[in-house]
Amino acid sequence: MALFDSLPAEVSIYEVSPRDGLQNEAAQVATHSKVRLIEALLESGLRRVEIASFVSPKWIPQLADGEQVARLIGEREGAAFSALCPNGRGLERAIAAGMKEVAVFISASETHNQKNVNKSIDETLRAFDEVIEPAIEAGLRVRGYVSTLWGCPYEGEVDPRAGLRIADILLERGCYQISLGDTIGVGTPLQTKRILELFLASIPADKLALHLHDTRGTALANVIVGLEMGIRTYDASVGGLGGCPYAPGAAGNLATEDLVYTLEGMGIRTGVDLEKLWRAGQIAEAIVGRELPGKVHRAGVRSLSG
Ligand code: HMG
Ligand code: MG
Repeated sequence: MALFDSLPAEVSIYEVSPRDGLQNEAAQVATHSKVRLIEALLESGLRRVEIASFVSPKWIPQLADGEQVARLIGEREGAAFSALCPNGRGLERAIAAGMKEVAVFISASETHNQKNVNKSIDETLRAFDEVIEPAIEAGLRVRGYVSTLWGCPYEGEVDPRAGLRIADILLERGCYQISLGDTIGVGTPLQTKRILELFLASIPADKLALHLHDTRGTALANVIVGLEMGIRTYDASVGGLGGCPYAPGAAGNLATEDLVYTLEGMGIRTGVDLEKLWRAGQIAEAIVGRELPGKVHRAGVRSLSG
């Protein structure tokens, strides 16, 4: 099959900037600024947004106001909001705040998992007893993340079969989708092809998403591989905000503007208005008070003069 023979007509973007983006900022962002950013993201046409984290505020103080953010955003026609949730306490908080979807997260490598949630991989899977099934029983949808699949900041190379074992367990327990994480942005295209071949041998493409940090500028190249291999959901973060405080060296996610620019340029619908998204990126930059790295964010939408 030739390159680009099987491109999809549309792709779903799962926006993570209010969570993955803001969890990594040194400065505390005010609740009303978070709400303003989420409103601007929705205004651009994004429909799936991870708005908060119900993790320990001691571990991630930046997102301690998850309840307020979720309540102020409320429900919106056609939009689906999610939030990270590591344990039963997180689920209680998410339900009380009116969330209809939560996301569990776990790493394919033991050391990152231990540093991130203070538990081994198997202990983390057991902790999900308090989250996945109870959430589904309460009528919520549950997404799963498998992190460090392309590489671990502590262990280096990771065997993707360790991640596949976890993904199989999360799907069997009821997660509707597994987002495969290149947490520190080390992935290259051939590696992505090999990881996806392994996962797609037993998991349907519509149950998988890619969550690619863009630390080394390879995220978009890996998206192209994903598109070719049937993946239709991509996580992204406006302006390229993001990182994981427990993954040293992790830069931001793939910038949503770069993803939308590339997909729309290839004739793939995203439902997002790039100009409005660019404006949301300006808001993100203003509220974090530092320059964001996204390429389209910096180049602008209209100017093609380079
Ligand atoms: P712990 O300290 O081992 O747990 O943390 P604990 O159960 O002993 O609890 C410690 C304290 O936190 C207690 O309070 C609990 O009540 C409280 P104290 O008695 O000391 O006053 N607590 C909570 N409070 C509010 N909400 C909760 C909650 N749970 C406990 N849900 C824990 C274990 C998992 C809680 C902790 O390690 C944690 O919160 N870790 C989160 C780390 C994190 O959010 N990392 C970033 C997100 S992951 C990521 O970015 C990767 C991703 O983007 C994908 C990718 O890029 O690959 C998703
Ligand atoms: Mg991430």
